[in-house]
Amino acid sequence: MEKQLNLLYFSPTDTTAKIVQAVGSGIGENVSAIDLTLQKDRQKDLVFGCNDLVIVGVPVYSGRVPEFLIDYFEKVKGDHTLAIFIVVYGNRGYNDALLELKDTFEKKGFIGIAGGAFIGEHSYTTKVGTGRPDLEDLTVARNFGRDIQAKLKGIHDYAQIKTLHVKGNFPYKERMGIRVVPVTNDACIECGVCAEHCPMYAIDSSSFRDIDADLCLKCSRCIKRCPVSAKSYSDEKFNKMIQSLIDNVSTVRNEPELFI
Ligand SMILES: Cc1cc2nc3c(=O)[nH]c(=O)nc-3n(C[C@H](O)[C@H](O)[C@H](O)COP(=O)(O)O)c2cc1C
Repeated sequence: MEKQLNLLYFSPTDTTAKIVQAVGSGIGENVSAIDLTLQKDRQKDLVFGCNDLVIVGVPVYSGRVPEFLIDYFEKVKGDHTLAIFIVVYGNRGYNDALLELKDTFEKKGFIGIAGGAFIGEHSYTTKVGTGRPDLEDLTVARNFGRDIQAKLKGIHDYAQIKTLHVKGNFPYKERMGIRVVPVTNDACIECGVCAEHCPMYAIDSSSFRDIDADLCLKCSRCIKRCPVSAKSYSDEKFNKMIQSLIDNVSTVRNEPELFI
């Protein structure tokens, strides 16, 4: 089956983007990338047809698909569109995120043919999942793409496609979160990079210090993009949570899990 390959991903700290691109390079058809990270790129309805193949990639937030994306995905529709589901998690666990992503897309005209859970450096600390995805992860992702391409070559009509099963439970894990936002220290040079790159436009674009706690995803993009390291988390409870993450999973190496 010759298809137009579409990469669709949300990736504030770039790890999901790397995995989706690597899987896509293994499939190796005509590729078009749609980066959904910035709000300005989440305005249009996206409609895919039966000649499209879509790789959807999201980071795992609290063991789930980021909540606001579930609402955004209302704008995305398929029509017998084959899809590959990718979640990228920070080495703690992905719980029900992959199942939730698959369920969400299969309800809107997509047919899952493969799914994968990969590991990325944790958005909150470089000590967990350090440097991932690394070369090994990217090789696994590319080979996964090749296996998907081989599977596609064997599909001549929809009746041949078996239901995709991935790991996860329904009802999905309850979402948890602490209401905190990054703080800004005196090193801030008011360059505006943080506000410009915020996926939710949650940062006030005149002071660059006020962050709307209702909008902020705590995705850490502003912290990582700041050229002078002026932003960080200072909330004691939140930092304790990060420390316990370091204590529990910094020395464990989880490996990608693939479903095809
Ligand atoms: C709000 C939030 C919640 C997260 N929850 C989890 C989680 O439940 N399990 C996990 O292993 N990593 C978790 N992470 C880490 C991210 O899933 C991980 O760092 C991922 O690689 C980020 O993707 P990105 O680089 O595309 O933004 C969380 C990160 C954020 C910002």
